[in-house]
Amino acid sequence: MKNTVNIGIIGGGLMGREVASALARWFVLDGFPVKAELTAVCDLVEKQREWFRQIPTVTLLTADYHELLANPDVDVVYVAVPHNLHEAIYLDVLKAGKDLFAEKPFGIDLKSAIAIAEAAKASGRFVRCSSEFPFLPGAQRAYQAAISGNLGKILEVHSGFHHSSDLDPTKPANWKRQVKTCGEIGVMGDLGMHAVHVPFRVGWTPKRVYAQLQKIYHERPDGKGGMASCDTWDNAMLHTEVEIDGAEVPMRFEMKRLAPGETNTWFLEILGTEGGVKYSTKEPKTLWTFARGKEQLWQKTDLGFHGPFPTITGGIFEPGFPDCFMQMWAAFLAERAGKLDGKFGCVTPDEAVLSHTFFAAALRSQAEKRAIDL
Ligand SMILES: NC(=O)c1ccc[n+]([C@@H]2O[C@H](COP(=O)([O-])OP(=O)(O)OC[C@H]3O[C@@H](n4cnc5c(N)ncnc54)[C@H](O)[C@@H]3O)[C@@H](O)[C@H]2O)c1
Repeated sequence: MKNTVNIGIIGGGLMGREVASALARWFVLDGFPVKAELTAVCDLVEKQREWFRQIPTVTLLTADYHELLANPDVDVVYVAVPHNLHEAIYLDVLKAGKDLFAEKPFGIDLKSAIAIAEAAKASGRFVRCSSEFPFLPGAQRAYQAAISGNLGKILEVHSGFHHSSDLDPTKPANWKRQVKTCGEIGVMGDLGMHAVHVPFRVGWTPKRVYAQLQKIYHERPDGKGGMASCDTWDNAMLHTEVEIDGAEVPMRFEMKRLAPGETNTWFLEILGTEGGVKYSTKEPKTLWTFARGKEQLWQKTDLGFHGPFPTITGGIFEPGFPDCFMQMWAAFLAERAGKLDGKFGCVTPDEAVLSHTFFAAALRSQAEKRAIDL
């Protein structure tokens, strides 16, 4: 394998630029075994493409992703486009013999996710899906607590991701608010992978789900003076049971676009009879841990910058979104190079298919107003 991995981006919008930002300061990773550079970018919109011209390593800007895929210099392709385009573009990336860093939800629906996962397996290419919050130090500590076996009997698990900007009815509609481009799963496709990644990695697969899904605003300004219909689910509460150490334990997932006051809040809480852990990006450097002794204690720890992959950033500084996004990319490229060394890895195609199986069951539960076995 060559020393520098050349990355291509298809879809230079919100997330495409985050990748450019992570790769542009790759030297921040301390002693990391893989070099990575952004080489090529494709976006349909000229203004979006032109932004990438300021990045000196980019040698190809194109509106046609086939041109990017035909470039022999590109090793890995990150794709961040509307969900209705995932399947076709992901399959073309694999056909071109490139490794794929897919965005969630990994296809617009379960059928699409299965097709992508099967193509990934048949191709032999390295494929993972994006979900960055578990790479924050607090999230890592919650994961370690979950697998430690030190929490006693698990009482309940609560995992979620909340947004609030949709509370504003004047916020314009975009492709994420429409079934044809976002998918019938709506908010579960937007926010769901973030909520399920850690519990699924621990091995906590829901046995059944009872879903409460809400559509709240049915139309929004279309940005051109008119109104556009918005037909996706906005908020989802998924009540499940999971078997842990022979007992059925309640596990609740929340994905909300309308959660008052929550700008971008990812959280995970695991409560047990002996110990517990709570972490939320609302207080990004705070980890709460529970210990039951003679007295019962909730302890608050100020965390530093310690992500899974060492960086030059001082250990007492606070990490944020760009940092966990970079750590996720480090996990992707380390695992691709066979150098993950037991660290936390990105979402696998099997986990992505499992998430879609879960969301499809949630849609059925909502329609039939009953719990659905997975
Ligand atoms: N990991 C995360 O935290 C996170 C956050 C937001 C979105 N996402 C995911 O990232 C993906 C993209 O979301 P976004 O918010 O970046 O969207 P966006 O609308 O900001 O960007 C999408 C870009 O794709 C371009 N595009 C559309 N069709 C194209 C085509 N055929 N060829 C090339 N470019 C094309 C658009 O012009 C646009 O610039 C989605 O799958 C979404 O779910 C992930």
